[in-house]
Amino acid sequence: MPGRFISFEGIDGSGKSTQARLLTDALRARGQSVVLTREPGGSPGAEEIRRLVLEGNPDRWSAETELLLFTAARRDHLEKTIRPALARDETVITDRFADSTRMYQGISRGDLAAVVDQLHRLMIGVEPDLTLLIDIDPEVGLSRAVARQGAEQRFEDMGLDLQRRMRAGFLALAAAHPGRFRVIDGARDPQAVAADVLAAVTGG
Ligand code: ADP
Ligand code: TYD
Repeated sequence: MPGRFISFEGIDGSGKSTQARLLTDALRARGQSVVLTREPGGSPGAEEIRRLVLEGNPDRWSAETELLLFTAARRDHLEKTIRPALARDETVITDRFADSTRMYQGISRGDLAAVVDQLHRLMIGVEPDLTLLIDIDPEVGLSRAVARQGAEQRFEDMGLDLQRRMRAGFLALAAAHPGRFRVIDGARDPQAVAADVLAAVTGG
């Protein structure tokens, strides 16, 4: 699968980062060239923007400004990391991509869903070839995320109700785009989840 673009999506603490790492290892063990990356971030400029959106006072940005910052970060990530890697026929695995904006900015902060879609068309315009939605009960996800802690707390402070809406939103998005999405049950041990992920990616 040269030049494949794969994203992981899901609520906070669902196990995306863990699974993105395990998939990267598995594909590299099969001899593939893999670029493992993440959003917000994934390029030097986008990592700077990550600090602006995820650290500091949560009220620092309006919903609209926040959407622009996430989109600016994605554009830089696309220009500097994703497109060059795909052009080299490498597999790109990203921990979050535009579906996260559709959920987090489209649902959580006012109803910006239509603007999110317009901005995506204008400035990004691509979707992953395959999106692995790691689905998990928000109570489990939140307890994992809280146990992990760190400076980037602001989105994890959103609370259970919002995480529930986000989970439902991700599942609805997956149902609307069955060709691109695979929903993986994340409430099992990491190796069992990884086996399903690898099967989805290799078509096995
Ligand atoms: P995400 O990137 O979706 O926020 P992480 O992969 O960072 O999730 O996992 C969040 C926390 O839960 C980490 O401490 C991680 O070690 C742990 N974790 C990940 N996957 C599992 C799993 N399948 N079962 C139990 N704990 C897990
Ligand atoms: P991430 O580091 O993946 O957090 P976690 O490991 O807890 O899932 O992402 C950081 C936060 O940024 C996460 O809470 C979701 C949020 N986010 C958005 O709100 N919009 C976006 O477009 C992206 C990519 C992330």
